[in-house]
Amino acid sequence: MKDRNLGMDLVRVTEAAALSAAPHMGRGDGVAGDRAAVNAMRAVLDTVPMTGTVVIGEGEKDEAPMLFNGEEVGAETSPAMDLAVDPVEGTRLLALGQPNAIAVIAAAPRGSMWSPGSSFYMNKLVVGDEARDAIDITSSVSENLHRVGEALERPVEQLTVFVLDKPRHRELVREVREAGARVTLHTDGDVMGALLAAYPGTGVDLLMGIGGTPEGVIAAVAVKALGAGMQGMRAPQRDDERARLDAELDPDEMTRVLDVDDLVAAEDAFFAATAITGGVFLEGVRYDRGLGVTTESLAIRARSGSIRLIRGTHRLDAEHIFGSGSLDQVVEAVTD
Ligand code: FBP
Repeated sequence: MKDRNLGMDLVRVTEAAALSAAPHMGRGDGVAGDRAAVNAMRAVLDTVPMTGTVVIGEGEKDEAPMLFNGEEVGAETSPAMDLAVDPVEGTRLLALGQPNAIAVIAAAPRGSMWSPGSSFYMNKLVVGDEARDAIDITSSVSENLHRVGEALERPVEQLTVFVLDKPRHRELVREVREAGARVTLHTDGDVMGALLAAYPGTGVDLLMGIGGTPEGVIAAVAVKALGAGMQGMRAPQRDDERARLDAELDPDEMTRVLDVDDLVAAEDAFFAATAITGGVFLEGVRYDRGLGVTTESLAIRARSGSIRLIRGTHRLDAEHIFGSGSLDQVVEAVTD
């Protein structure tokens, strides 16, 4: 018998998280949105036929009541999977009602996901499949842009690079512009940035720059499933992070280039995401359709290369948006 595509079950998990977070959009309280998404994700995860261990979650047990690293979730059947979750990737985007906040989860067979350990920040370079062999994160920005341009048979001037809008990227932005490429700056959300770079036809050709290491591992699952290219290097930004890594790692490991297979070793990996706030790629949770509440999600399986763009319509009443009891309603809506 063919094994089950867990990606379809995982979409229900991200749909539930997005539906629960969406009522908090633009209300200035990202933490409340995150809490709602975590609760929903956890409730639906327990219906997924697997034994999952959260390896990238909402921090350590004491800092987060739900989905902490090491927590066991799922319906306690085989397969045994590692999970990387981000119930709201782009908490600030959600709080401010800005584009590209997503609920996201990645799964891979037990033991196959790279553990960030004490590394909070990672330098990332992501491109689509045609340019996957052209990148080298240790080379200059200009060299990478020229090589990607060659691989895509397009002048550098026609390339668009997704960069997080952070003070640490001033020099990177200058170098991209000096090489002739265009920059699209976003305050948050580099998992979506990686997706845009890896997925064909989005108008974004590369993701460059430093973002969260956990987000890097999650993005790597999508990149792998899409057959796209990615390299990462630890890039500590905080003093405590630098000190811990210096103490834990030898210098070679510290500067090691991690490719997609280092970040996700197994072939049978799954990625699912549902948009909370809309962007160029996925439409966010919408209440104005007359039908119910709509969601747009993406489910990708690495082994088969199957990509599904899924539009869901969910019967949720106004109580969900404005009142109590919404978690049960959401769980019922996505699992029935
Ligand atoms: P959250 O999921 O915590 O909201 O992360 C948003 C994000 O912008 C990520 O996409 C990115 O990898 C990381 O934060 C960058 O961190 P920082 O804002 O500290 O530079």
